[in-house]
Amino acid sequence: MDNVITLAIETSCDETSVSVLKNGRQVLSNVIASQIQQHKIFGGVVPEVASRKHIENINQVINKALLEANVTFNEVTHVATTYGPGLVGALLVGLSAAKAIAYALDIPLNGVNHIEGHIYANFIEDINLEPPFLSLVVSGGHTHLILMKDYGVYEIIGKTRDDAAGEAFDKIARALGLSYPGGPEIDRLAKEGNKDAISFPRAYLEEGSYDFSFSGLKSAVLNHLNSKRMKGENINRADIAASFQEAVVEVLTEKAIACGKEMGINTICLAGGVAANSRLRNMLSKRCQEESIILKYPSIKLSTDNAAMIGCAGCYKYIKGFKSELDLNAIPNLKIGEG
Ligand code: KG4
Ligand code: ZN
Repeated sequence: MDNVITLAIETSCDETSVSVLKNGRQVLSNVIASQIQQHKIFGGVVPEVASRKHIENINQVINKALLEANVTFNEVTHVATTYGPGLVGALLVGLSAAKAIAYALDIPLNGVNHIEGHIYANFIEDINLEPPFLSLVVSGGHTHLILMKDYGVYEIIGKTRDDAAGEAFDKIARALGLSYPGGPEIDRLAKEGNKDAISFPRAYLEEGSYDFSFSGLKSAVLNHLNSKRMKGENINRADIAASFQEAVVEVLTEKAIACGKEMGINTICLAGGVAANSRLRNMLSKRCQEESIILKYPSIKLSTDNAAMIGCAGCYKYIKGFKSELDLNAIPNLKIGEG
């Protein structure tokens, strides 16, 4: 590979992010304009607001990313952009900008699957990491155990049958009166609580299944809150946060470890926004150590949505000779392995 400069764009949800990378794994800039403050007042992401904010931000974020990387448009070799899954109006903003740049500079474009991007954050964090490995992808919209066999080659071993892990964190945070996004708030509050205070259910499902389910746990926490309120009893939010978090993290950890052992895979890579959870990192690190499994996880900035991970995934497509056409459309429910 000879000095491939990738300009990458990510606008699938509530972060407008642009990154410039050299040869796929060296991040020259990774600018993230977060809309969290705009969505906080609504308690969640409002799709129309997200699209409008992306439009307002995109050109400035592109210019800032180029400036910080000390790269001009003419030095860019290749453009990468998220084209799904995500909010369609939000995705279209980044996709349109990427197409315009690719067309104007007459350089190749690659559409990237957002979930795939999350896994690639690990390649940036550890420049020596190579597949195969098992990836536990836990984000606001997804909970997957994926075997990454090679670059761009995946086998889904398990996934959630209902809520995603991050979605469960956000919903329980809301019920506890915490602000959006709930995951980091629960992570913080749980540190003040007792994880063994309440025994919430762990859904391991059928024996041998690597699927997940968080809706039963969510109902159990909501029922606990309602019953306390109806009885007029004191609600210890920190204990509830810690006990809920423990139930989620324990299932994620034990399923990932069991899967790694059964498949004889000795490396697990965490990915997605929930990979930022301190308890998940601790418990998984401890269990991996006990089982002689190597654990990798990206820094917090590379765990949550960012364009650098999209650029890394896009660059590997480019190197393999893939190229998206300029009529590429946004696919809100794009599955991994489909593109
Ligand atoms: O990957 P991401 O930034 O966006 C999606 O692709 O969905 O993930 C966002 C999710 C949100 O549900 C957020 O609450 C959760 O990641 N999250 C966390 C933490 N930081 C972010 N969940 C638990 N603990 C955290 N520290
Ligand atoms: Zn994401």
